[in-house]
Amino acid sequence: MKSYFLVYDRKVGQFAESYAKGLDNANILGSLALDISEQDKSLATVETICSHLQQAGADRDSCLLCVGGGICSDICGFAASIFKRGIGFEVVPTTLLAQVDASIGGKNGVNFNGIKNSLGCFRIPDHIHFFQEPLNTLPEKEIKNGIVEMLKTFLLFEPELYRKAVQKISTRKAGIKELFELGQMAGRLKMQIVDMDPREKGPRILLNLGHTLGHAIEWWASCKGVEMSHGQAVGIGIVQIHKLAARQGLCNQALADRLEKDFRACRLDTDLPCALEELRPAFKQDKKRSSGKLRIVFLTEIGNPAVCEMEI
Ligand SMILES: NC(=O)c1ccc[n+]([C@@H]2O[C@H](COP(=O)([O-])OP(=O)(O)OC[C@H]3O[C@@H](n4cnc5c(N)ncnc54)[C@H](O)[C@@H]3O)[C@@H](O)[C@H]2O)c1
Repeated sequence: MKSYFLVYDRKVGQFAESYAKGLDNANILGSLALDISEQDKSLATVETICSHLQQAGADRDSCLLCVGGGICSDICGFAASIFKRGIGFEVVPTTLLAQVDASIGGKNGVNFNGIKNSLGCFRIPDHIHFFQEPLNTLPEKEIKNGIVEMLKTFLLFEPELYRKAVQKISTRKAGIKELFELGQMAGRLKMQIVDMDPREKGPRILLNLGHTLGHAIEWWASCKGVEMSHGQAVGIGIVQIHKLAARQGLCNQALADRLEKDFRACRLDTDLPCALEELRPAFKQDKKRSSGKLRIVFLTEIGNPAVCEMEI
């Protein structure tokens, strides 16, 4: 019999508890409900989880079962990696973004001294269990965050799926079922890339499309107390990096315009919330910065990604 300790996002408590109850041949050591926000993505929450694991008698054969979105799985993956130098880790992603992206690939961690994801490690979950059901309660804003990461993956690797997804989403023909199915396709594409390059030494870097600007926008928003989700910031990042790339002659203006038009048609944010200048302090902290330049991912055309060193 396998021993699980359940950690879940309080907002999906009912789903999480009924999921855990339905597990075959499982001993539930205990559970912990978390309130979820970027502020809670901290070492303090990792400590809380580890204390509960300790009190519940979890050992190296136990498994931390996380039911929640990307914040929950990022924190839990980190806790599972360090508790007793690593215990089992399974995830049931409950947001579209986590199903498409965050639960896949083993990157985890917490924010530290105001810098996003600056403490963490790689820990591929032992299992990821995907269900459409939790998406039914997901607010529209969170659905949009997942759509951004899904479009990002299709933009990089599957132009036809990108076109199809934009067409369905912009005309409001994509309900939860279609979004779940599209999300599963995007998730599988991400898994293939992670399998090829688990430590981000090669093609996995491409998945950072939109993220350099996106993370800087998230940093700016947290400093200013402006509400800004990860997906929203990445969406703006994808559109804006192509405007910059077009100005520097790295891609053509028609591509930058098309991305802006498509994202707007899907009712996604596209405008920088501040002057580019205000984002510069965040670029200095970027994990992908060397010799004063940023490593930027962009598209020369849809389905054709490239990487360059760019001064922004
Ligand atoms: N590790 C990675 O590779 C990776 C990739 C992308 C993003 N991320 C991280 O993931 C985080 C964003 O993840 P997210 O968008 O899933 O956000 P999240 O975990 O904050 O969830 C978004 C909101 O939805 C609520 N929620 C979750 N599931 C719900 C459901 N089924 N019904 C109703 N409400 C629900 C949460 O409580 C929260 O308020 C960021 O911290 C980002 O840095 C990590």
